[in-house]
Formats: sequence, C-alpha cells, structure tokens
Amino acid sequence: MHDQVVNFTYNTPTKVLFGKDAINGLPSEMAPYGKRVLLVYGGGSIKKTGLYDTVKTLLKDFELFELSGVEPNPRITSVREGGRICREQKIDMVLAVGGGSVLDCAKVICDAPFYDGDPWDLVIDSSKITKALPLFTVLTLAATGSEYDSAAVITNLETNEKIGVLNPLNYPKVSVLDPTYTLTVSKKQTAAGSADIMSHIFEQYFVDGSCMVTEGLCESVLRSVIKFAKIAYDNGNDYTARANLMWSSSLACNGICQMGSEYGAWVCHAIEHELSAYYDITHGEGLALLTPVLMRYTLNDKSVKRYAYFANRVFGIELNDDLYVTAKAGIEALEQFFASIGLPKTLRDVGIDSKEKFDAMAEHACKCFPLDKAFVPLTPAQVREILDLAF
Ligand code: NZQ
Ligand code: ZN
Repeated sequence: MHDQVVNFTYNTPTKVLFGKDAINGLPSEMAPYGKRVLLVYGGGSIKKTGLYDTVKTLLKDFELFELSGVEPNPRITSVREGGRICREQKIDMVLAVGGGSVLDCAKVICDAPFYDGDPWDLVIDSSKITKALPLFTVLTLAATGSEYDSAAVITNLETNEKIGVLNPLNYPKVSVLDPTYTLTVSKKQTAAGSADIMSHIFEQYFVDGSCMVTEGLCESVLRSVIKFAKIAYDNGNDYTARANLMWSSSLACNGICQMGSEYGAWVCHAIEHELSAYYDITHGEGLALLTPVLMRYTLNDKSVKRYAYFANRVFGIELNDDLYVTAKAGIEALEQFFASIGLPKTLRDVGIDSKEKFDAMAEHACKCFPLDKAFVPLTPAQVREILDLAF
C-alpha cells in the first residue's frame, strides 16, 4: 500500500513446461544429466491414474530406480531411504511425481548424497547443503508451489518437528505442470490445496508495505483461486479450473508475489506447521481454520486498512467509512468461502481435542519463525491465545 519498491534480488531458475502433454518434453530435458534416475512418488495415486505407466514408457531409455510410499507431511525417514538409494545406486538425477510432499521429500533426497551425516541436519541447517542432484518434477496437486520454489518441509516424528528448509540448490531444473494430472484430486485435497495457495499470498500480502505491482499480483491470484476452487470442487474434471489453480499454486510461492514489498513473517504457516508436527493434519486445512481466527485477532489500527482493502478488492465488498466494518465483512466472506468448499472451522473439526500441547507449540512456532517482526507482532502467549480461539 505504498508506491515504493524495496530492493530485491530475484532468480527462479526452474524451467516450467505447462499444459496438456507437456510431459513429452521431459526426456530431452533430462538426457543431458545422465541415465540413472530415482523416481520418487507417494502412496499410489500415480498408479491409479496411469501417470506411473506414462512415465515408465516415456523414460524407457533411462535406468529407473524407485522410492514409493512418500507420506503426506513427508518424513525424514523417507528422505534417509532415498538418500541411501542415491548413494548406493550412483543415481544421476531424481524425478519426483506427485504432490508437494513428494516434491519436498525429493528435494532433500537430492541433497543427501553429498552430506556424510544424517539428512535431518540439512533440514535444520540449510548451510550444510553444499551440492544437490538435479531434480525434475511432475506435479499432480495444485497447492504448495514446491514445483517452482526452493523450499522443502520435512517432518520428524521422533522430535515432533516439522521444519522448512530453503536453499537455492533445491530449485527443480524442470517442472511439468499438466493440469490433466490434477483432475483426480479429491474434494478434500482440492479445497486444502486452494486454502494453501491463498495462505501463501496472505503471508506476503498482509505486510507493512506492499508495492502496487506486487499487490495487484497477489489480489489477482486470490480472485482466481476463489473463482476456480469452487468450480473444481464441484466438478473435478473441469480442466480450465484445474489449470487456473495450478498456475496460481506456482506463482503464489515462488517469491514473485513478494518482490518489492516489505518482509512477511509467515505467521499462519508458523502456527500450522506446529499443528501438523504434533497431529499430522492436512496442511491446507490447518491454514484454513487458523486464518480467520488470526485475522480477527490481529485486526487493529495498523492492519485495518490492509484487511479492508483485501475485502474490497478481492471480495468486492464496498468500502465503508468505518474501515473496521469492511475488514470484518471481508473476514466473514473468507470464512464463508472456506465453508463453501468444505474446509474445517475449528481444531476439533480436524480431530485435535486437547489443549495439552498448545504452550509447547506456541513456543516452538516463535522459535522457528520471527513472529515478533510480523505485520502485527506476536508473542508465544498470544500464539497460545490464537490456538485457544481456534479450538
Ligand atoms: O500419496 P499419493 O498416493 O500420491 O496421494 C496424495 C496424498 O494422499 C494425494 N494426491 C496427490 N495428487 C493426486 C492425489 N490424489 C489423487 N489424484 C492426484 N492427482 O493427495 C494427498 C496429499 O498429497 P500431498 O503431497 O501431501 O499434498 P500437498 O501438495 O498439499 O503437500 C503438502 C505438504 O507440502 C508442504 C506441507 O507442509 C505438506 O507437508 N508445504 C510445502 C511448501 C513448499 N515446498 O514450498 C510450502 C507449503 O506452505 C507447505 O508447507
Ligand atoms: Zn503452505
């Protein structure tokens, strides 16, 4: 909400192949990197949809090794296993086929062969990542933006930690974005993925100052998701809706929607990662139930203008002389939108029925993310209150 553009460096080196049958371009993209490929995928959706067979046929001239069963909220144990295969089989490159969990897991698998210790060290200290195998991805779920960013979020169930690691070496070389592969995504995952895309924007849009260009990008992505998430939710086979969601997913998290604006502290993600670390819930559902609570909690004289403009430009709500009225109407509209695509409203809705861990979660959220520097700064005690309100 100002005309300044703050300094930035921007470099997203991933090549994107977007659209129907874009996967046909993959073999020639991969060929310069060698022959030995580790194919990483999840719990079997790619076998049901036929994508697994497509990949095998397409890559017939490569030598394929496999790591299957990567979990939603991917575990460090899967990373360890993938790293071991890469070393033992002298893998040249990794191909991840799936949603954000598969892609994230594959990113740290690419780093693991070049580090002698436990790959968990790489997650908690990204400076230990010195080299990475080339990564190629075929995305099957529009949500995280992992296909177009350098982030990976890995869960360690032994320590109840879910931690994000960022390193430029983790950008995929090439990502195939064919919306056709997302036609089979369930209603639940379609809704959760859409909430995740929107949350990535909120984290970069609810900031001290955003420049007009970037602000417009953010609002455009939000409007697209609101329009097309409902269409895809009602009719999973709608290619156009799926295509709009897929492109929104990639743009929401690759930094472009933040460049020129002030820094965002990723508050909602900080709190949600604690929920998934302790309770293994679906990331986008956690974000959806937290967002309205967080917005109401942080609505004050500093944030009111930003929230009111969000209501006006994204939901078309008329600006009232009293901006609090507009801001509150915007939060309500967001809540109604989430409800219209079946997203949960409370922590109890996602099966969290005890407040026992809330203090530990609040402390850890503030340790992992600089919430004291957020748009509306938060202390651990306030994060605890937000968790109570979301209960
Ligand atoms: O495992 P399979 O059988 O493939 O099934 C998956 C999984 O059960 C299924 N699915 C995926 N594509 C499908 C499909 N089912 C039918 N048809 C398809 N085409 O969907 C389920 C969820 O998949 P998952 O990969 O876990 O979902 P998502 O893409 O939302 O990824 C969530 C993970 O990404 C992290 C989250 O924290 C979470 O761990 N994030 C990663 C980010 C990043 N790298 O930048 C940023 C995000 O903020 C987020 O934290
Ligand atoms: Zn997210």
